[in-house]
Amino acid sequence: MKIALIFGTRPEAIKMAPIVKELKKQEDIETVVCVTGQHREMLDQVLEVFDIKPDYDLDIFKPGQSLTDITVNSLEGIEKVLAKEKPDVLLVQGDTTTVFSGALAAFYQQIKIGHVEAGLRTGNIYSPYPEEANRKMVGTITNYHFCPTDANRQNLLREGYKDSDIYITGNTVIDALKYTVQEDYVFEDQVLNDLDYDRDKIILLTSHRRENLGQPMRNIFTAVKDEIKDRPEVKVVFPIHLNPKVRQVAYEVFEGMDQVIFVEPLDYLPFTNLMNKVYLVMTDSGGVQEEAPSLGKPILVLRKETERMEGVEANTARLVGTDYQVIRDNLRELLDDKEAYNKMAKSQNPYGDGTAAKQIVEILKNLKN
Ligand code: UD1
Ligand code: UDP
Repeated sequence: MKIALIFGTRPEAIKMAPIVKELKKQEDIETVVCVTGQHREMLDQVLEVFDIKPDYDLDIFKPGQSLTDITVNSLEGIEKVLAKEKPDVLLVQGDTTTVFSGALAAFYQQIKIGHVEAGLRTGNIYSPYPEEANRKMVGTITNYHFCPTDANRQNLLREGYKDSDIYITGNTVIDALKYTVQEDYVFEDQVLNDLDYDRDKIILLTSHRRENLGQPMRNIFTAVKDEIKDRPEVKVVFPIHLNPKVRQVAYEVFEGMDQVIFVEPLDYLPFTNLMNKVYLVMTDSGGVQEEAPSLGKPILVLRKETERMEGVEANTARLVGTDYQVIRDNLRELLDDKEAYNKMAKSQNPYGDGTAAKQIVEILKNLKN
């Protein structure tokens, strides 16, 4: 049996890594790893951490790339790889443009598709954009849907997918996380070691969503700035995405603020260990919404909708959107109201038990019979 995996961005690589590792252990499965290189530095960081050497690297990245650039260049490259390798199944993960192109290329060659992290939905085609559309389009041509949770399965059943094609496996991000967090972790970046995580209130902030670029992101950053500026004990660590459109607004709004510490995108190990030490997480990321609950960290989700309601339902996450006042009010409450904070700071793991990759590989092996 031959299984190919295609991925291209940081989160896909993190969530595919446990599956690559598990597949490589199987003597009766040949594994082919192809990366599109939709991300360059941020993808390479993850490949290095997990020691994955791709068989194919399409290297499509170009600064300022449009959705069309990514789609067209990936599709062309993936077509050739699939025509040469002829895998029995192609695995794609999540909802990026690499995922859409990968699945489409496989469909054109009638290669079976396994979609990892299937069934996530907000119900709003423009939020997250273009991810909600990508996951719906990929679902249509997918043969095996690997859902993290039963809520994801229910979404697919509502859309008319056959239950026999749906598997609940948990999310592979929990598999990845299990091996990274250590209580005595020491950062390479001394700035992160020097922070007083017990005495001060350290906030981890990330933001990169396309639909938040521009004014929504400006609202988020301004709300954080105004709420913390008279609280010297509050500091923000912002590992800032490489997108210049994010950087421009962030540098402008936080200019001259010593309480905000910008760091380059962190490797997965320091990032998750930082998350494990901070007081609070503020993010519009998908993956971070899954990781923070299992580390017992309250999260303010900086999005109008989320496809990851499990954290909200478990009361470890609050969906606060991008409205200036709503963000300030929620941040103030979590900084000042110990009881409200403690209610959210509890370890919850709605996204599986860290065996998702094993389960997915077992399912693939049994497809032979
Ligand atoms: C992409 C995904 C998004 C995912 C995110 C994870 C799409 C449409 N979007 O968004 O779903 O949540 O990745 O981070 O697939 N850049 C670099 N180097 C890198 C990566 C990005 O310089 O290694 C800069 C470039 O200027 C690039 C910009 O960031 O043009 C945006 O990258 P892109 O992959 O187009 O979209 P993301 O916003 O990263
Ligand atoms: N992450 C990382 N370094 C960072 C920021 C995030 O390793 O500086 C990891 C994080 O732990 C999570 C994933 O990247 O697993 C999330 O990626 P991102 O927020 O870019 O994308 P999304 O999950 O929103 O698609």
